[in-house]
Amino acid sequence: MPAEKSEELARGLAGVTVADTEMSFIDGEAGVLRYRGIPIEDLAENASYEEVVYLLRQGELPTATQLDEFKANLVKCCRTVPDEVIDAVRHFPSGAHPMAILRTAVSLLGLHDPGAEVETRTANEAKATQLMAGIPTLIALYERVRNGQEPVPPSQELGHAANFLYMLTGEDPNEVAVRAINTYLVLLADHGFNASTFTARTIASTESDMYSAITGAIGTLKGPLHGGANERVMKSLFEIESPDKAKAWVDQTLDKGQRIMGFGHRVYKTLDPRARILRQYAEALAEEPDVGKWVDVAIVVADAAEERLSAKGIWPNVDFYSAPVLYSAGIPVDQFTPIFVMSRVAGWTAHVLEQQADNRLIRPRAKYVGPREQPYVPMGERA
Ligand SMILES: CC(C)(COP(=O)(O)OP(=O)(O)OC[C@H]1O[C@@H](n2cnc3c(N)ncnc32)[C@H](O)[C@@H]1OP(=O)(O)O)[C@@H](O)C(=O)NCCC(=O)NCCS
Repeated sequence: MPAEKSEELARGLAGVTVADTEMSFIDGEAGVLRYRGIPIEDLAENASYEEVVYLLRQGELPTATQLDEFKANLVKCCRTVPDEVIDAVRHFPSGAHPMAILRTAVSLLGLHDPGAEVETRTANEAKATQLMAGIPTLIALYERVRNGQEPVPPSQELGHAANFLYMLTGEDPNEVAVRAINTYLVLLADHGFNASTFTARTIASTESDMYSAITGAIGTLKGPLHGGANERVMKSLFEIESPDKAKAWVDQTLDKGQRIMGFGHRVYKTLDPRARILRQYAEALAEEPDVGKWVDVAIVVADAAEERLSAKGIWPNVDFYSAPVLYSAGIPVDQFTPIFVMSRVAGWTAHVLEQQADNRLIRPRAKYVGPREQPYVPMGERA
C-alpha cells in the first residue's frame, strides 16, 4: 500500500522562499516582471540580449563603451568552440533529441576548458561568457551536422541573435527573424527560482563548478512541465491542423482531464507579461505564409482555453506564444527548447555567481513516511 502523503509539506516547494536574489522581480498576481527593477516591456522593446546579459550579471545597464567591449570579448574569446568538441558532436547519434545533445555538448565544453576548475570570480565570469557565446554555436553545429551539412563558423561581426541564425542557415538572416529571436532571448533570460535555476544554484551550493551547474540546469529545463513545453505547444498546433478545429480540441483535451501545454504557471495567476508581449508578436505574423495558419490556431486555442481556465488562475504562459514566434524565425520544432537554453543561460550563470558570492549548502529535508522499523528477513524465509 502506498504511504500516505504528508499534508503539511509545501509540495513541489510551492510558495517556499529559499534565497535572496537581486535579478528578477516577479509579481505573479499582477503579472509583473522586471530585471533589476527595469520593466520587461521596456527591455523587450529596446534592449539587445547582450545588454540584458550585462545587466543581469553586472547589476546595471552598460554604457556604449562597456557594451562594445563586452560584445567584442564574446566574439573574440568564445564563439568558436574547440575542434575536439566539434568532432565529438559530429559523432553524436543523429536521432538524439537536441536537448540531450546540448546537455552532453555543454559538459564536453567544460572538459575542454582549461580554466573549468578555477574558482575565482574572474574565472567564473569567463566561464559564464564562454557558455553564453558557445551554446548558440553548439546548437547550430548539431543542426547542420544532423542535416548532413558542414558547420558554419561563427561571424565576427554579427550580434548574438543574428550570428545564431547565420550559423544555422549559412545565410545573412532577415531583420524580422533577428528581431524575433532577440526579443525572445531578452524575455526568457531570467525568471527567479524556476526549477532549472534552482538546480543550477543547488549544484553551485555544493561548490561544484559552473559547467556542472549549467549541465544540470539543461537537464531540468528539458522536461515538458518546464522548458520542454514550447515544443509540445507547436506539436499541439500541428495536431489541431486548422482554426475551425481548435475549440473542439480544447474542450476534448480538458474534458479528458489533460493539460493544455503552454498554459498555467506556478507563480503567475494572471497573464504572464512575457506571453502578452509574444502574443502581440504572434498576431503581427498572422499574414505571413506558412506561419499565419499556426498563429490563427494558437489564438483560437488561447481564447477557448482562457474561457475555461482563467477563473482557476490558469493563463497562457511564455511558452504558448513562443511556439509560433520561434517557428516563424525558422527554428526546427525540436530545437525550441535549446533556444530557451540559449537565453536562460544568462540567468543561470548570473545566479551561480550570486550563489557563490554568499553561499550556503542547499540541503532541504524529506519527511520519512515509510515503515518506522521492520526486521531483515533472510532470503530463504521471504514470501
Ligand atoms: C506549469 C505547471 C507545471 C504548474 O503546475 P503547478 O503549479 O504545480 O499546478 P498544479 O499541477 O498543482 O495544477 C493546479 C490545477 O490546475 C490545473 N492545471 C494546471 N496547468 C494546467 C494546464 N496547462 N491545463 C489544464 N489544467 C491545468 C491542474 O489540473 C490542477 O487542477 P485541479 O486543482 O483541478 O487538480 C502546470 O501549469 C502545467 O503543467 N502546465 C503545462 C506545462 C507548461 O506549459 N509548462 C511551462 C511552464 S512556464
